Amino acid sequence: TLEGSLRPRTLEEYIGQEKTKNTLRIYIEAAKQRHDALDHVLFYGPPGLGKTTLSGIIANEMGTHLKVTSGPAIEKPGEMAAILNNLQEGDVLFVDEIHRLNRQVEEVLYPAMEDFAIDIMIGKGASARSIRLDLPRFTLVGATTRAGLLSAPLRDRFGVVHHLEFYSQQELTTIVIRSAQVLGVEIDPKGAAEIAKRSRGTPRLANRLLKRVRDFAQVKYDGRITLEVANFALDLLEVDSYGLDKLDRRILQTMIRNFQGGPVGLETLAAAIGEDAGTLEDVYEPYLLQNGFLGRTPRGRIATAAAYEHLGYPIPSEK
Ligand code: ADE
Repeated sequence: TLEGSLRPRTLEEYIGQEKTKNTLRIYIEAAKQRHDALDHVLFYGPPGLGKTTLSGIIANEMGTHLKVTSGPAIEKPGEMAAILNNLQEGDVLFVDEIHRLNRQVEEVLYPAMEDFAIDIMIGKGASARSIRLDLPRFTLVGATTRAGLLSAPLRDRFGVVHHLEFYSQQELTTIVIRSAQVLGVEIDPKGAAEIAKRSRGTPRLANRLLKRVRDFAQVKYDGRITLEVANFALDLLEVDSYGLDKLDRRILQTMIRNFQGGPVGLETLAAAIGEDAGTLEDVYEPYLLQNGFLGRTPRGRIATAAAYEHLGYPIPSEK
């Protein structure tokens, strides 16, 4: 089965992100009643929480097409102009990692988003002039791991801005059960709950782990995903009971062993584990922060008592 087929196609099927879902439902309905395109939407938050899925749902619910691209994929203003010029009335243009658009490409978006037009330069030197080309009314859906990385002029042009949150274990369990149904694999509620518990609040991870657990269930057991199979497979995959993976644990271990639990600066920590500081901050930190394993102080990051305990280190008396 294709990875994409686990994605829900309608708001009805989509589990979690209740606030985002409920407001989007209203905006979509209102835009449809007016026979207009939906206003531009910005999704921000950690990876794997549904930014791409929601953009597909928006296009589907609006009854229009989805075009997908990403910040780093568009290098020249002319490429952006061509993409915009090929859109049809009401289409959804999804730009993943929108914070990575370069300045000149980003500037093409300003009149496109605001006036549904692009300005094209004709000629060179003294005879150069710009002509304005009208575009169909479209919806830009931008996705970024952090809204703070977006320039103010771009951010201000989104009418709808939503932060995507980590999913609860209950929501993830429901997602795992739904995905198992789609994949045609039998699953016990307890098996589903175990996969959910170890999925870092992230549906993308839950679905990936489900597929791996299914492989074990199929080859080593009778095909059915029970708590026993889930535990066996997830232990082998080195995903622990809080869903922390090897790198999560290495981050905390490095803080504890090399920096006495901190405070340690983000850049210093990133260098010590050999990761990019931006990735550390956007991809790894949010979950550790939200689950109380890592803290931010004015002097840097600290490993919390919970981190010491979870990793089996004695808790220093001042922590
Ligand atoms: N698969 C991935 N994310 C999902 C979600 N939020 N709801 C249902 N299925 C999903």
